[in-house]
Amino acid sequence: MEPITSIVTVDDAERAAEAALTPEAWAYIAGGAGDERTMRWNREAFSEYRLRYRVLVDVTSVTTETTVLGTPVSMPILAAPTAFQGIAHEQGEVGTARGTAAAGTLMCLSTVATATPADVAAAAPAAPRWLQIYVFKDREVTDEVIAQALEVGFSALVLTADLPVYGRRDREERAGFVTPDEAVPAFAAAAARAVTDDAALGLLEAGLEWDYVTELRERWEVPVVVKGLVTAEDAALACEHGAAAVVVSNHGGRQLDGAIASLHAVPEVVEAVAGRAEIYVDGGVRRGSDVVTALALGARAVLVGRPVVFGLAYGGDSGVRQVLELLRDETENALALLGCRSPDEVTAAHVTRAHPR
Ligand SMILES: Cc1cc2nc3c(=O)[nH]c(=O)nc-3n(C[C@H](O)[C@H](O)[C@H](O)COP(=O)(O)O)c2cc1C
Repeated sequence: MEPITSIVTVDDAERAAEAALTPEAWAYIAGGAGDERTMRWNREAFSEYRLRYRVLVDVTSVTTETTVLGTPVSMPILAAPTAFQGIAHEQGEVGTARGTAAAGTLMCLSTVATATPADVAAAAPAAPRWLQIYVFKDREVTDEVIAQALEVGFSALVLTADLPVYGRRDREERAGFVTPDEAVPAFAAAAARAVTDDAALGLLEAGLEWDYVTELRERWEVPVVVKGLVTAEDAALACEHGAAAVVVSNHGGRQLDGAIASLHAVPEVVEAVAGRAEIYVDGGVRRGSDVVTALALGARAVLVGRPVVFGLAYGGDSGVRQVLELLRDETENALALLGCRSPDEVTAAHVTRAHPR
């Protein structure tokens, strides 16, 4: 399928996705928790910074390429883990794997995907891939997903720490969204073992603590990334427990409504981490200028959740590729106009608060 020419920005992709989806699926994908204040703040936070661009820098050659945990990627933009992609498009996670690989970047597969790690690996064998971890009360279910993923070349584990319980997703509830349990191999495995009477997301463990980060790292011997923290305190604990990277994230405003915008948490995390781990941020990234703002505040890369699902919803793998490539092109343009030839050249001097206190 050819890219749709009328889609120039992520906002265009969002409109095309809404038109392609049922109201229930749209509520699940586009919605947040509670009054969706945090979801809005994630976007608004980017408007509270101003870029300090430099001039008369030779930008005849600009690259967006970088590395994450030593893995080369075409842009400092990764596909965030998002659940149940089969509800967005029949290609599901396989489409995201192909589109992300075509755009030259990395995909993080959700534990509660509608495809298996092996399906994703087969769809884009040469592309880098990480596995996001949700921990089931029945730990063997999670261990089994991890073992399957490592077997087929997933190279890091991304432990999502901000979903001890599911957020209050009022929009989802109003729309009557139901989780596609039978289509999710991990739910099916958990149900088959029937250790508890819970269903779907109720099967997840609410009792995890920091020692689990150490356990994951020691048991599986791959880098562990802690996703979903927004404080200096937790960033320091992640480093003390051996995290190779952290994702500053509030789950796209889908968990604790009222939580700080993730971008606003980046400076304190940068200070607390003090170079011990890589720092990524997600939540509300919709423009290349957002990407360079995040880099200037000290993030090495951003993740995008909804934008990738929008692309998948309207265009399958080509939609995913189109959305990631438009973000890459915007980022390249923003770098050039900022006076930077690569992501590494973006520094704290390139950004200022709009209204310094
Ligand atoms: C539809 C949807 C499903 C998600 N599922 C997961 C998931 O399974 N695991 C996870 O760690 N985060 C999940 N997230 C959160 C994303 O990884 C990411 O933190 C968030 O989407 C970033 O915000 P953005 O959508 O504004 O880019 C999900 C987000 C969305 C929108």
